Amino acid sequence: MSSQLWQSAAAVLDTNWARGHMVPSRRLYPHQWSWDAAFIAVGLAYVNPQRAWADLRNLFGAQWPDGRVPHIVFDPAVAEGDYFPGPGFWDVPAYADRPAHGSTGLVQPPMHAVAAWEVYRRATGHGAAAVAAARDELGWLYPRLCAQQEYLTGARDAGGRGLVSIVHPWESGLDNSPSWDAAMAAVPADLSLLQRYARRDVQVADITHRPTDTDYARYIGLVQSYRAGGYDDAGLAAWHGFVVECPAFNAIVAAADHALARIAEVVGADPAPHRERARRVTAAVVAHLWEPASRTFRSRDVRTGELSGRRCVNGLVPLMLPGLPREHVVAIMAEAESERFGMPSLSGLPIPSYDRTAADFDSYRYWRGPIWININWLLRRGMLLHGYEAQADELRTAMLRLIHRSGHYEYFHPATGEGIGEPAFSWTAALALDLLADRTAPVPAAARA
Ligand code: DGY
Repeated sequence: MSSQLWQSAAAVLDTNWARGHMVPSRRLYPHQWSWDAAFIAVGLAYVNPQRAWADLRNLFGAQWPDGRVPHIVFDPAVAEGDYFPGPGFWDVPAYADRPAHGSTGLVQPPMHAVAAWEVYRRATGHGAAAVAAARDELGWLYPRLCAQQEYLTGARDAGGRGLVSIVHPWESGLDNSPSWDAAMAAVPADLSLLQRYARRDVQVADITHRPTDTDYARYIGLVQSYRAGGYDDAGLAAWHGFVVECPAFNAIVAAADHALARIAEVVGADPAPHRERARRVTAAVVAHLWEPASRTFRSRDVRTGELSGRRCVNGLVPLMLPGLPREHVVAIMAEAESERFGMPSLSGLPIPSYDRTAADFDSYRYWRGPIWININWLLRRGMLLHGYEAQADELRTAMLRLIHRSGHYEYFHPATGEGIGEPAFSWTAALALDLLADRTAPVPAAARA
């Protein structure tokens, strides 16, 4: 299967290159998305490293003066009506040398330092000139990656506990995960908004596979609230309706600092502050997001102080942290291997996005059950990091088998493996390349730090 899968993955990445950047998919997501760009770069590193760097440059070229990296960078050649909510709805003013309406005001998990390190690592196999070029790219990115971390760990520490808060489920990347249900229940759902603003996603995708209208009314209301506050983060918990600490987002923040420590060594900067911040964020995740009764990580609603009652896959992602205490590692692996998440040994398939035994587990609806490759890729890295080689290999095989059988889909049915959502999805293809190429696995940068 390898060479066929390699060719098809490379072809998806080729198709999804659009005017100087990558799109997640042509129809449903016609602009550039932030955390997608990071996963995509990991795969482009094998087939077109210049594009990997160019894509990251396009994204960080849209960084705001306060350091935030927007969750979508809008392509001015795409019509307003081709995506909702589009540039006009976000109404972001001009900043630096960027014209108005160039991006959204939200962020996404900062996977980019990990990705940049992986792209650099691949260059070392391609001779001195390739390494020198990659080092220049790291030099350009490094201060921007630092500014991104400073924004997140500074302005976004809304709870004052050393954890980053998200202000919209879209910021998590796990849009309609049950992890947000309790916090979202308190957000008004004004369904009349959907008469004023038509959803574009359900014109191009199956409505039963997407977030509901009630979810969307709340998503739009939250954008309106953050936009009305000028996308300012001061005193967030007092005036904004959704302020939540996510274990996966925060684990990625800590992983970014581990990768930044490696990058700092290459570009001649001091790695020590990065290691120190990674240690602090890891300690805060363990101290504040661990739910002792169920022995899993949970998201926390900063406005109420409550941990989510739902077991979701974001609670397993801190496995990617090298500083995670052994008892937490063992507990997460037990959870991953339980009937709730069912490692391939139980289901033959990768890990789903939600507890399979939950009454409202939904095999089709986006992040409420289906399997996503990017999350499984992160979990596999965590397994390798903590010495679970057999399980990591099992997961790698299950992911590759699934993509080979079903295609480079956006997500997959957790019982049948049927492809759902977009059929030529960039990060699925990109991570397939990485899984094919890297049998023995990239020991994450963090492990060697
Ligand atoms: C979408 O359009 O569904 C995205 O997930 C929002 O970022």
